[in-house]
Amino acid sequence: MYKHLIRPILFKLDPEKAHELVSFAIRTTSILPFKEKIFSFCGNFVKEKEFMGLKFKNPLGLASGFDKNAELYNVMQYLGFGFIEIGTVTFMPQPGNERPRLFRFPENMAIVNRMGFNNKGAKKVAENIASNGKPSIPLGINIGKNTDCPLENAAENYADCFRILRQYGDFFIINISCPNIKDLRKLHDINYLEKIISRLKNQDSLKPMLIKIAPDIENSDLVNVVKICLKYQMGLIASNTLPAEKAGYSQKGGLSGRPLNMLAMERLKEIREISKEIPIISSGGIFSEDDLNERLKYGANLAEIYTSIIYEGPLVVKKILKSHRNLSFQGSVKS
Ligand SMILES: Cc1cc2nc3c(=O)[nH]c(=O)nc-3n(C[C@H](O)[C@H](O)[C@H](O)COP(=O)(O)O)c2cc1C
Repeated sequence: MYKHLIRPILFKLDPEKAHELVSFAIRTTSILPFKEKIFSFCGNFVKEKEFMGLKFKNPLGLASGFDKNAELYNVMQYLGFGFIEIGTVTFMPQPGNERPRLFRFPENMAIVNRMGFNNKGAKKVAENIASNGKPSIPLGINIGKNTDCPLENAAENYADCFRILRQYGDFFIINISCPNIKDLRKLHDINYLEKIISRLKNQDSLKPMLIKIAPDIENSDLVNVVKICLKYQMGLIASNTLPAEKAGYSQKGGLSGRPLNMLAMERLKEIREISKEIPIISSGGIFSEDDLNERLKYGANLAEIYTSIIYEGPLVVKKILKSHRNLSFQGSVKS
């Protein structure tokens, strides 16, 4: 029904307008009683496993960017996800880049976005989580740097954001890899990165944290980032969107979807060559059950999706998790 009825209507709209319409529908659903029952056809995948000290009922999550302001997760959790990420959230609210800033490439099952961390800021997001309540599955909060904050002050900016949100997330993602924030990707440099991580760990050494890296990260940077993760007992999300111009796209921004599949697999294998223990969430180009199972086979502990929801609809979660009703997954790494 999604592909034949709903998608053609949504794809006639400007992509960001379509997302706003879907978000409105989700928010409306959230006030319905028995919403859990309404979504029960999406499936319930319970085979609890531990990862970074948290319990996950299955290995597939909603990636960051879909619910930037913690307004949708309460309904999205019923689609069958094992975890949900919100954000990227910055310390201060910011409008993001000028529109249009979201583009579909259906022939490649791809999206290019240059949203630029549009979000309502840490304080408002904390209020939203406080009033919506925690979901029944682990909630990850993805934090980033305000666009106008110079790299030299990044550690303080991340720390300010974390301080406000710390009590609301089960785990945190430190986003240093969005291609749409000027110079953000330079934070892969070990000197910047260690300052940020030590500031965050000083505030809370127990909260599970993962660094979200770029899919085109240099191998020398990857080795350093893994070192930091092992030193501070953190994990990695591999990986974020790719600067679209690197893949020959006409629009500037971050490329996601099918074209990322191979890159994300390569990063996963590379990380596992460096470290067998480091916790990994694999992100990029997952559309099918086979895609997910391949990630798990090559050592990802968990995986996450965004673009396949746009192309395949909400039931893609159930489709991808088909073989996970009774299967266990590799997720025993603790930090
Ligand atoms: C429209 C859009 C917005 C995104 N916003 C964020 C974001 O705010 N923070 C982030 O870390 N990743 C963001 N992402 C990246 C996704 O979380 C994910 O890592 C990436 O899209 C690769 O997965 P996919 O191929 O399944 O979409 C965004 C992706 C899209 C398509």
